Amino acid sequence: MHPKIASISDDSVALVKRLLNETAQRVDEHLPRFLPEVGQPAQQVSEAMCYSLLGGKRIRPLIVLQSAQSFGLPADIAMPTACGFELLHTATLIHDDLPAIDDSSLRRARPSCHVAFDEATAILAGDALIIAAYDALAAQAHNDGVSARVVVQVIAEFGTYAGATGVIGGELADIHGETVGTNRELLEYIHLNKTAKLFEGAGRAGAILAEASDESIKAIGSYCRTLGLLFQVTDDILDVSSSAETLGKPVGVDKQAGKQTYPALVGVEGAHQYARDLAEQAAELTDMLPNNHRFWRGLVKLVLDRWA
Ligand code: IPE
Ligand code: IPE
Ligand code: MG
Ligand code: MG
Ligand code: MG
Repeated sequence: MHPKIASISDDSVALVKRLLNETAQRVDEHLPRFLPEVGQPAQQVSEAMCYSLLGGKRIRPLIVLQSAQSFGLPADIAMPTACGFELLHTATLIHDDLPAIDDSSLRRARPSCHVAFDEATAILAGDALIIAAYDALAAQAHNDGVSARVVVQVIAEFGTYAGATGVIGGELADIHGETVGTNRELLEYIHLNKTAKLFEGAGRAGAILAEASDESIKAIGSYCRTLGLLFQVTDDILDVSSSAETLGKPVGVDKQAGKQTYPALVGVEGAHQYARDLAEQAAELTDMLPNNHRFWRGLVKLVLDRWA
């Protein structure tokens, strides 16, 4: 039924876990480079930015770095771009938790930004992180071995994945989705835009920096988009099956808010089935990638079986 995922070894998953841990440490060392130093009377905005950055899994930076490496650019060279994706992602989490959006008071195992600080600070810290993300992407041009032309290409397409045709559009649709009955087409739009597009952008960015062929950039983009869809389906499943202690964010909130999710549309078992189908598709798409197959397949299994 799912021959590709059945053939992914535990060793591959262990490799991905090790790389994710190592990457998280390195990303955490580099992130401060891309944060502006702000003194009084505005210091609180930089405190809120630093506060919100702590504690993420750093899966999007891992994707940027491994994509670069898969196409021949040493992973660490792509670090500014990897940090750019994490800065933007963190901004989306701050805004996602605001009272006007998901109204969630726990994030990354601590009070959400607007609870730890206040709503105005959270809005502005999110805004500032989005700008900082662009600074980080631009800083990529300082690296020897990466041409300004490809850096501009990454920046130019970042907005299509992060902006109104991506995450922001997905978030708007997600809020609208609370007011209507379950709707598969709407749900697909939400998952694709609020989550999968940033994964796609991250995979493409690494490949673009490595000057991969257009065909390869498309291939890693399709794989990462499918992985991103899987990531959001498992996020929906964890909301109904995990705990706040494990996830570091509240559970059971999607149903309460009337969110469009796969458990709501097809039930929990149906959502698991769909997750396995997406994982199989993602694993099949790794055949199009030039190397690092163990890593890319292991990542599929890690996301399928993730517990946090
Ligand atoms: C949470 O993303 C938002 C979703 C797209 C589901 P992550 O699960 O990657 O959150 P962090 O970065 O590890 O906190
Ligand atoms: C995540 O959707 C999408 C973004 C933050 C852009 P969720 O609202 O499901 O994410 P969590 O569950 O709060 O992390
Ligand atoms: Mg949300
Ligand atoms: Mg949320
Ligand atoms: Mg969620």
